[in-house]
Amino acid sequence: MKPFSYKISVIGAGAVGATLAQRLFEYGLADVVLVDILKDLARGKALDLMDAASITRTEKSIIGTDDYEDISGSDIVVITAGFPRKPGMSREDLISKNALIVKDVAAKISQSAPKAIVIVVTNPLDVMTYLALKTTGFDKTKVMGMAGVLDGSRFITLIAEELKIRRSLVKTFVMGSHGDTMVPVISKTTVEGKPLSSVLSAEKIEGIVRRTCDRGAEIVSLLGTGSAYYSPSASALRMIRAIMDDCGEIVTASAYLEGEYGLSDICMGVPCRLDSRGVVEVVEFELSEQEKAAFSKSAKVVEGSIELLRARHLIHQQTVKDGAG
Ligand code: APR
Repeated sequence: MKPFSYKISVIGAGAVGATLAQRLFEYGLADVVLVDILKDLARGKALDLMDAASITRTEKSIIGTDDYEDISGSDIVVITAGFPRKPGMSREDLISKNALIVKDVAAKISQSAPKAIVIVVTNPLDVMTYLALKTTGFDKTKVMGMAGVLDGSRFITLIAEELKIRRSLVKTFVMGSHGDTMVPVISKTTVEGKPLSSVLSAEKIEGIVRRTCDRGAEIVSLLGTGSAYYSPSASALRMIRAIMDDCGEIVTASAYLEGEYGLSDICMGVPCRLDSRGVVEVVEFELSEQEKAAFSKSAKVVEGSIELLRARHLIHQQTVKDGAG
């Protein structure tokens, strides 16, 4: 059942986690717990946000901590703990470093907040979502990853820029793995209700798709240290709002697949129906042959990453529970 008042914990008080905590707190959406292995960092940021509360006019609470007891009773837990990409580093390079962190955090979440919905933000996203699902042993409806919302927003931004139109006129879904093999679904991309392919040439679309894929790396190289955080935190917030609104909205998320899109035992970006129970349905779009091929190429990358974690004994096979309970 939809809670009356939400408690949301954000693990990782770095750039993405703290910005998400700020958005949640300042919009007055939830009582927020900010957790970091660096306790004072989390406490300091929480105090700083609290000091702004009389100005931003929120009556919600926020605390910073390193104690997982404090997340008990959370309705949603967002995992942002982990290292961001460095210039020249692929998301896949991050696997080994971030897997140890996500595994540790997921085990603590399952102990302290066993009823929570978990949203994974740590990269490489799809394999970290899979690891969080297997480590918590939570129902597959309860664990999802944030990527498609961000990739979709980047794609929309670049399309609107190219056409010099309002971003709100562009609708799209970006599926597949969060990375170089993401799959913007051109057949489901519309501009004022018209197919994208009727307003832009195939060559232009290809260029925009390439720039969308490279956008994360472009930001990494401009920032010098760290990676994007305003748009990832906004994207996580978008998913949280869909969960809280409880309307069954279709939002792209990395979800556990059991036969959908011809894939099993993998987490991939797919359109999901979200409500207060989590991912209640993976929505199966009709894809073009080209999109199907791109999606399966994308799946191979995630399968490779999962194999890598298995080889390092980081994933222990657990039964993923079915149903939306
Ligand atoms: N438990 C809790 N917090 C941890 C742990 C842990 N085991 N390990 C690291 N952290 C914390 C760090 O102390 C740091 O404060 O995670 C935080 C990460 O913050 P940043 O380094 O600023 O990274 P950020 O930009 O927030 O990105 C975090 O999100 O988008 C992804 O690719 C990105 O994987 C990266 C993650």
